[in-house]
Amino acid sequence: MRLLLTAGPTREAIDPVRYITNRSSGKMGHALAEAAVSKGHEVILISGPVALAPPAGLAEFVAVESAREMFEAVRDRIGKCDAAIFCAAVADYRPRRIAERKIKKTGDTLTLELEKTEDILGGARTVFGFAGVLVGFAAETDNLDANARAKLERKDCDLLVANDVSRRDIGFDSGENEVRLFYRDGRVEDPPMGAKSAIAERLIRIVETLATQQG
Ligand code: CTP
Repeated sequence: MRLLLTAGPTREAIDPVRYITNRSSGKMGHALAEAAVSKGHEVILISGPVALAPPAGLAEFVAVESAREMFEAVRDRIGKCDAAIFCAAVADYRPRRIAERKIKKTGDTLTLELEKTEDILGGARTVFGFAGVLVGFAAETDNLDANARAKLERKDCDLLVANDVSRRDIGFDSGENEVRLFYRDGRVEDPPMGAKSAIAERLIRIVETLATQQG
């Protein structure tokens, strides 16, 4: 398979020294890339800023900062891919204007006007016309099942990988994770909690199966 992966957070500039970002170490995305490479797949990893070295053996590594850059990197590559896994924690909003100079501390409050970023996963089918296996992630603090199902449908995914980020023992900087898998046909699966590398291997196997079924 040729597989496209997004990973890590994005950074949305406020001024030359500040930005808005999401919590994400990039570990899950990089583990997925590693697992896919070890299964012999051709992997394109598009990653926001993380403190991890890209895994060896990638077909391509693209380092991006902002949601717009990630959107463009995906847009230019997804057409040739059989599967795409969107693991990145993309900022949903960015400052409407980036100040050219450092914003000085003047008043007691500061108001930033934010605008929506491109929904990259949400545009995979509709904007990019992607017909391959599409996998999304959802980090939720409330109503995990309902939010995950709605997200799967809204973004037209084959599989949605949800995790409960209100739990401290898993996710984010942790090497472990516990996820719940939602399939397009309504199936739900709870793989055992485990190392991100073990979850990554399982997800790659599932994507291989979905790709075979799609023919
Ligand atoms: N995603 C993306 N581009 C964005 C935002 C999210 O590609 N601008 C992808 C993430 O990589 C992840 C999934 O979409 O696979 C997560 O979606 P989420 O941001 O949780 O969905 P929203 O529609 O923004 O819903 P919410 O109201 O929960 O924020």
